[in-house]
Amino acid sequence: MGVRFGFTGTGYIAKFHAQAAAKIPDAKLVAVVNHKPESRAEFAQQFKIPRQYDTVKELLDEGEIDALVVCTPNYLHAPETIAALNASVHVMVEKPMAMNVVEAAGMLEASHKSRALLMVGHCWRFDEEVLWLKSQVDSGRLGKIIRTKGFGVHVNWGPGGWFTESKFAGGGAMADMGIHALDTARFLLGDPLPISVYAHFGTYYKPFDVDDTGMVIIHWDNGAISYVESGWWQPHADGPEAATKLYGLEGFGQLFPTFLSLPTQGKIESGYAAVRDPHCPQSMYDVQLAYFVDCICNHHTPKPGGAEGLINVKVVDAAYESARTGQVTQIR
Ligand SMILES: NC(=O)c1ccc[n+]([C@@H]2O[C@H](COP(=O)([O-])OP(=O)(O)OC[C@H]3O[C@@H](n4cnc5c(N)ncnc54)[C@H](O)[C@@H]3O)[C@@H](O)[C@H]2O)c1
Repeated sequence: MGVRFGFTGTGYIAKFHAQAAAKIPDAKLVAVVNHKPESRAEFAQQFKIPRQYDTVKELLDEGEIDALVVCTPNYLHAPETIAALNASVHVMVEKPMAMNVVEAAGMLEASHKSRALLMVGHCWRFDEEVLWLKSQVDSGRLGKIIRTKGFGVHVNWGPGGWFTESKFAGGGAMADMGIHALDTARFLLGDPLPISVYAHFGTYYKPFDVDDTGMVIIHWDNGAISYVESGWWQPHADGPEAATKLYGLEGFGQLFPTFLSLPTQGKIESGYAAVRDPHCPQSMYDVQLAYFVDCICNHHTPKPGGAEGLINVKVVDAAYESARTGQVTQIR
């Protein structure tokens, strides 16, 4: 029968996921949700989707769906995801998983209770270059990784609309962009747990009520330290989205451009292009959604799932708290 997919939200990222689904033989695009009839009609026409709804509730009431891809503004992630999970519908929700840790924990609990799967769209875990660097780390060539430095920064650009209002987005550039660098660092480090976070945020470039500039230091339980920069409208970035540098006892490795530098062998190129265009390729989202379908078909808990998404939201929450208090936030 295949996996019958619904999509809620029909904006920028939803199109990547619909294109990915259209390529998967086991996936069927059956429903789309958006409160704006023109937007959902256009999306339905583009992807040949037969059923259209105003709300996720209407879709779930009618049923006949196996999985929902949640691509709405952040404030809708938790309610839409929990409603779907409670109806035994598997969910892939975009990052950030939720507005805060309370919501994220509720989503994870709903998944455990219903046994419907919950995946979080931390897409960089599916990128070819990230996976290449991870394989180098896992092979031990860099030795133990002591520290990482990563970037989630837009140069001379930033999003508008709901992204810039805390009541819809939860946070600013850290919740939007910094979280990509945070999750990439955590993935490359082997998913350690955070112990403490120290951060500074500010809003300097536009009159938003969320951060457009941030610096976060995370202390992990494997002894490593990660430094993450987040930003919108910055005059410069030391690397593109999710670019991460790894400093190991035996060598250095980095993403974008992706290479290793080992004391005994010099610079070792990955074979990937120095500059990617586009930086966020469709192929990354294709692999991500194919993995979700595979998890559904084979009853595997997705990774990154609710557990990984929750850790990231915990770090983001802790970072905002640290910036507010001026103190290091301990995470338990
Ligand atoms: N993983 C990535 O690379 C990546 C990239 C961009 C965005 N995102 C994430 O995806 C999510 C969406 O971002 P976007 O850039 O696509 O935003 P967007 O503004 O382009 O799209 C949001 C969509 O949600 C719709 N919407 C708003 N309220 C709704 C409601 N009540 N019911 C149904 N639909 C509703 C809007 O009409 C729009 O179609 C965000 O959480 C964002 O952080 C992830």
